[in-house]
Amino acid sequence: MIPGRRTGKGRVHLTAGSAHDCRPLPKRTAQEGDVCRSLRLPHRRSPVPDLTPPDVLDFQNVSKTYPGQPRPALNDLTLRVPRGSRTGVIGRSGAGKSTLVRLISGLETPDAGRLLVRGDALGPATRAAHQARTGLVFQQFNLLAQRTVLRNVTLPLELRGVPRARRDALAREHLDLVGLGEYAGRYPAQLSGGQKQRVGIARALVTAPDLLLADEATSALDPETSAGILNLLLDLQRERDLTLVIVTHQLEVVRAVTTHVAVLDAGQLVETGETAAVLRAPRHAATRALLDAHRPQVPLAPDETLRRVTLPDLNPDTLAALARAGARIVQAEPHPQGLDVWIAAPAASPEWAVLA
Ligand SMILES: Nc1ncnc2c1ncn2[C@@H]1O[C@H](COP(=O)(O)OP(=O)(O)OP(=O)(O)O)[C@@H](O)[C@H]1O
Ligand SMILES: [Mg+2]
Repeated sequence: MIPGRRTGKGRVHLTAGSAHDCRPLPKRTAQEGDVCRSLRLPHRRSPVPDLTPPDVLDFQNVSKTYPGQPRPALNDLTLRVPRGSRTGVIGRSGAGKSTLVRLISGLETPDAGRLLVRGDALGPATRAAHQARTGLVFQQFNLLAQRTVLRNVTLPLELRGVPRARRDALAREHLDLVGLGEYAGRYPAQLSGGQKQRVGIARALVTAPDLLLADEATSALDPETSAGILNLLLDLQRERDLTLVIVTHQLEVVRAVTTHVAVLDAGQLVETGETAAVLRAPRHAATRALLDAHRPQVPLAPDETLRRVTLPDLNPDTLAALARAGARIVQAEPHPQGLDVWIAAPAASPEWAVLA
């Protein structure tokens, strides 16, 4: 997803410093020569380490067909996810989004191509170590009904053999982090949907992962609860310098949370880039269809256009600006930065600039 970092077939990680440094790539010494050849530089060793982190995820022509299925769930997917990014994966139902998450989490393996995770090819030798650094949050929370909230959060630590006192302390710390310190002794059935998802997030983070995968984490929640969960994910992502991959069919989630977006359609990656750029000027018909599907279906006057803006709140100044623009609010939903508002207004209104 970062342009200009590949040269031919070789992979180039350029670092700051002298243009004549051709530093060894960590664990990639075989490609060293490629870098030097592509830059036409003499090769010499430097004591300065390469500080450029590898992409957390690097899908290289990955395909996956489930047994007995006529079509691949993912087809020749090439995608890179930079470290510290928040990447949204969107697409229609059946597009292959969850398959992508299952490949990253190691629950499924590609039939063709390679998936590099943190610079290493994901395979039997690396899977366990990678899974230990990857957290998963699911749509249906996947909490164990017969375990208390505390015991749900300690579960991944139990599986890793962490001593009881330590895992209880870590679980309590993470329940505090998600605002559920008082709920440790409850059972999942005694929680709301949003609280269940907070437990799911605490459980995903208790093992200190650096990669968090969320598959439709807010789809089962009402808009206000959803905004609360997204805020929490955003805060945690920043505090812990997580790389977040968030699968969603909710375009507002993509808008509110992500730095990058990947659009899947029938198993193909059809569009990718920085979120703002893709949403502003979608190139592929599938992306445009997803955007259109989220536009409120309201009748418009001949001179009116519909726009979506994020407002911190609906204070008197904003309402006055809307009135001057001849604008009307046709839909408003909670958003981590305030309100997601769809506005219909005359296209020629000079006041549009105030709102855009
Ligand atoms: N375990 C499985 N066995 C066979 N086919 C499967 C399996 N899981 C998914 N598929 C198929 O693979 C394709 C992609 O499915 P996937 O679950 O990745 O889609 P998705 O984009 O997550 O859809 P949704 O938005 O409905 O969750 C679909 O055609 C689906 O029917
Ligand atoms: Mg899915």
